[in-house]
Amino acid sequence: MSTLTLTINKKDYQLDNLDTRTTLLDVCRQHLQITGPKKGCDHGQCGACTMLINGRRVNSCLTLAVMHDGDEITTIEGIGMPDSLSALQQAFKDNDAFQCGYCTPGQICSATALIEEVKQNWPSHVSTDLQHPDGLLVQEIAERMSGNICRCSAYPNIIKAISQVLEEQVSASSTSQTADSSVQGASVTGIWSPPPSETQLGKKSTNNKTATGTTGGRS
Ligand code: FES
Ligand code: FES
Repeated sequence: MSTLTLTINKKDYQLDNLDTRTTLLDVCRQHLQITGPKKGCDHGQCGACTMLINGRRVNSCLTLAVMHDGDEITTIEGIGMPDSLSALQQAFKDNDAFQCGYCTPGQICSATALIEEVKQNWPSHVSTDLQHPDGLLVQEIAERMSGNICRCSAYPNIIKAISQVLEEQVSASSTSQTADSSVQGASVTGIWSPPPSETQLGKKSTNNKTATGTTGGRS
């Protein structure tokens, strides 16, 4: 390929004669020295390489750089730097939501997109009511973050950090959007609720066991 232009963290990078088989993760880390995104598994299993592409979270080890000419790419460096942390980065710090920190850039990129998804009332696989998503239950956050693995198992504090920012930002958004306030307000209430009962889920005990079992180790 002759020339590829990538826009990463609002800056344009021109790459000449790039091998078309190069992943976006390798371009960032090997060619551009943007090393925030981490290589964990290199085949879409761990989420350490998560970046935002046009606002959506993507495993950058699974996508080719040549597919992203003209896209808006954001890595952890574009979300915030040590002297200008985003609210979520600060919350991770305040809640001690990491140990080794290797998964953290991916976790924060993913959670940044999660917050936008919740604000837009996108349901998840464990939403109990698609008309009024209960997007802030612990189980819901865990499910939405299930593509990001933490080998240090910092999940309880990761969920605390995300919940804190969700509570602040979704509450703020519900006050400013009167029309949607009932839905958004209902979402906020659920943050630290215990796992939903069988009656709430409307499911038989076997299904409920799967739902709570999946999230039990994380919350
Ligand atoms: S390095 Fe991309 S998902 Fe693990
Ligand atoms: S903090 Fe070590 S892998 Fe998550």
